Amino acid sequence: MNRRKMICLVAGGLAVVTAGIGSLVALPSVVLFLLRRRLPESITEPSSAFRIGSPLDFAVGVDTRFLQSHRVCVVRNTNRLYVLFARCTHQGCTPDWVVQENKFRCPCHGSRFCLGSAFDGDGINCEGPAPRPLDRVDVEINSEGQVVANTAKLYQWPKRERSQFDDPGAYIPLTQG
Ligand code: FES
Repeated sequence: MNRRKMICLVAGGLAVVTAGIGSLVALPSVVLFLLRRRLPESITEPSSAFRIGSPLDFAVGVDTRFLQSHRVCVVRNTNRLYVLFARCTHQGCTPDWVVQENKFRCPCHGSRFCLGSAFDGDGINCEGPAPRPLDRVDVEINSEGQVVANTAKLYQWPKRERSQFDDPGAYIPLTQG
C-alpha cells in the first residue's frame, strides 16, 4: 500500500467515525421531534389548568404552595377565594409574598401589591412602577368539588378601565358559616 492510498484510507475512516458520532448526537433530537409530531399537544406540553384542592383546604390569608410549581398564590378572605398570577405587571418579575406587610413585593424595581388587613383588598399596585394590580387566574369548581385554576385565562384591572375582578370565573364565592 503506497502513501497516497494509506492517507485516503485514514481519511475515509475518520469520515465514517465522524458521521457515526454526529448521528448519535442528533438521534435524541430526531426521536423527540417525531414523538412531538405523533403525540397530542396536551401530552407533550404542560397544561395551564391544574387542580388546587377544595376551597376548604385554604385558611383565610395567602397560600404560596403553588408559587414554585405554577407561579400562582391562592387568596382566601371571608367572601371569596381567588388565585393571583405572580407576575409583576411592570416587567414580569415574580413578586414575593411578605406576610408581615400583607403585600407582595417585586424584587426587580420595588413595586408592591397590597391585599389589605382582611385580605379583602384587590392586590392593588400600591407602590412602585407597576401599572395595574396583579392579574387573577380563572377558577372554577369541577364535578369533584375541586378548584381548577387556569393560567391561560386571566382577569385584569387596567388603569382607568373596568375591573374584571368581579367577573364570573375570577373568584369562587364562599358561603359563610
Ligand atoms: S418588574 Fe416588578 S417592579 Fe418592575
